[in-house]
Amino acid sequence: MSDTSIPPAAAETNENLPRLKEMPDWLYLLREFEALYRHGSAGGSASIRAHRKRVRDTLSAVIAANPPITRREPVTRPVTAHLGRALDLGERGAMQGMARALREVRGGLAWEYGYEKLPKALAQKYAYSEVLGPQGPVRADQLILGFVLFAPNTTYPQHSHRDIEESYISVAGAWSENDAAVYAPGSLILNKPGDEHRITTGDQDPCLLAYAWVGPSERLSAPGMKLTATRKARAANGI
Ligand SMILES: [Fe+2]
Repeated sequence: MSDTSIPPAAAETNENLPRLKEMPDWLYLLREFEALYRHGSAGGSASIRAHRKRVRDTLSAVIAANPPITRREPVTRPVTAHLGRALDLGERGAMQGMARALREVRGGLAWEYGYEKLPKALAQKYAYSEVLGPQGPVRADQLILGFVLFAPNTTYPQHSHRDIEESYISVAGAWSENDAAVYAPGSLILNKPGDEHRITTGDQDPCLLAYAWVGPSERLSAPGMKLTATRKARAANGI
């Protein structure tokens, strides 16, 4: 035997995992992302056009490579009680294809908080679930795709992402970023690396957003999510 053989554990792991093309519901979900980032408008913005292209080119390459799919243990959070309603709303509007594709995989989603320190109230009203990225379920190094779900009447505090360019695409519900506008299903909002943003959601319905993160692979595998201390909190902590 030569020394170049793959250690048995690693070989076993990869061989046992199903590939994307053997899991049609996951493939169709990724194709919904691909179509959105290919056919949606950039609204005349060169930055948004470049971002759309980065996302869809990376995603097309991932799909073509037919990556392994990790089966993650499904995890629910208090906010996932609102997911059924969010999908119902999504299926009535411009994002119906995405909402239907997400419904097909919802039983296999792990909903997470991400932050080391999460305000208690936010833990009741927010969670996200990745569908593609370094941690899977669809494995990719250069891109993260996922969904974030908010209960009605939620404030997602100010935060930014180091080295990561982020876009949200609205699937269901109405929401606002930095008090600047009200976004309806189908809207795309781009946050460049370091851009501070704070989200508020409408008071009647949950809000479901699809998101894409592009950035260096080392940052995507350890994004170090932190909420930005507000001026009031900084003053209270003497910083
Ligand atoms: Fe963000």
